[in-house]
Amino acid sequence: MKQSIQRIGVLTTGGDASGMNPAIRAVVRTALGMGIETMGIRRGNRGLYEGDAFKMNARTVGGIINFGGTILKTKRFPEFREKQVRQQAYKNVKRDQLDGLVIIGGDGSARGAYEIHSEFGVPVVLIPASIDNDVYGTDFTLGFDTAVNNAVDAVDKIRDTAHSHNRTFIVEVMGKEKGNLALEVAIACGAEIVLVPEIEADWNKVFTSLEDQKKRGKVSSLIILAEGAGKAQNVAKLLEEKFPEREIRFSVLGHIQRGGNPSAFSRSLATKFGVEAVKMLRNGFYSHLVGYKDGQINCIPLQEVISNQKTLPMKDVEILDRMAT
Ligand code: F6P
Repeated sequence: MKQSIQRIGVLTTGGDASGMNPAIRAVVRTALGMGIETMGIRRGNRGLYEGDAFKMNARTVGGIINFGGTILKTKRFPEFREKQVRQQAYKNVKRDQLDGLVIIGGDGSARGAYEIHSEFGVPVVLIPASIDNDVYGTDFTLGFDTAVNNAVDAVDKIRDTAHSHNRTFIVEVMGKEKGNLALEVAIACGAEIVLVPEIEADWNKVFTSLEDQKKRGKVSSLIILAEGAGKAQNVAKLLEEKFPEREIRFSVLGHIQRGGNPSAFSRSLATKFGVEAVKMLRNGFYSHLVGYKDGQINCIPLQEVISNQKTLPMKDVEILDRMAT
């Protein structure tokens, strides 16, 4: 049932993603334009649980469109899986007279968002934000494009060394459970091999592929490894044992991938998501995700988001193989 929305809360949850700030800005300014007040909730679900909210206005979100991270701060808060923790969060929602929540976060945040609506009836819209691009129902999450660009920038530099020294390089990128980031980076960098958590590594295939590349005259090879598919150090050791004549090196990119100014795409998408999220709350689309599918902003129920897993685009794996000739 459509409820009257006069005041909403906005929070950022899970790992920070570049694009969260422009999304917060869009939420606050869209709400203002509709006569809706916005409270910012600090440190994600932890802040919701502790009731750490403050009033926002057009100025509190001024000059942040190009900032990475999140001005609202965020925190990993696995305790939110417990019902009594969510109950306390709900009490704070009531105390602060919040008629709805815009939650900006990733796959892990979708379930919490779904539950706080289904258990307590709080109107919720989720804006997908994660460098892993792992949220079902949207082609892109905020932060993914920026993280890909950050990683590509770093790998391009590593490639100069790999090529100059005729080396085989393993570059470990983020992605504990999903290989979307690794795959996109691999394609954009022209890597020869990608190793992702979704596909069990076939080491014989990797060895043969590296041998074939050498036969075809390649002097250096680049392997992009998602952190969830193994440790770069271990892969380097394995390759050193197999190819003692080769110079093998590895590099772990780590958190350098996550921050930095959001790319133009991340900012624009964040702004569109933020505007749509507030409209959705006003129009009674509760417990929904605002996403981007086939070039359009879309809206799907959170129930569908949490009951499905985003799959790795296998056609992109084929593209990578095709290019590595
Ligand atoms: O969820 C995004 C992500 O960057 C993952 O790719 C990575 O495994 C994880 O966060 C790292 O989290 P933290 O910064 O909490 O160590």
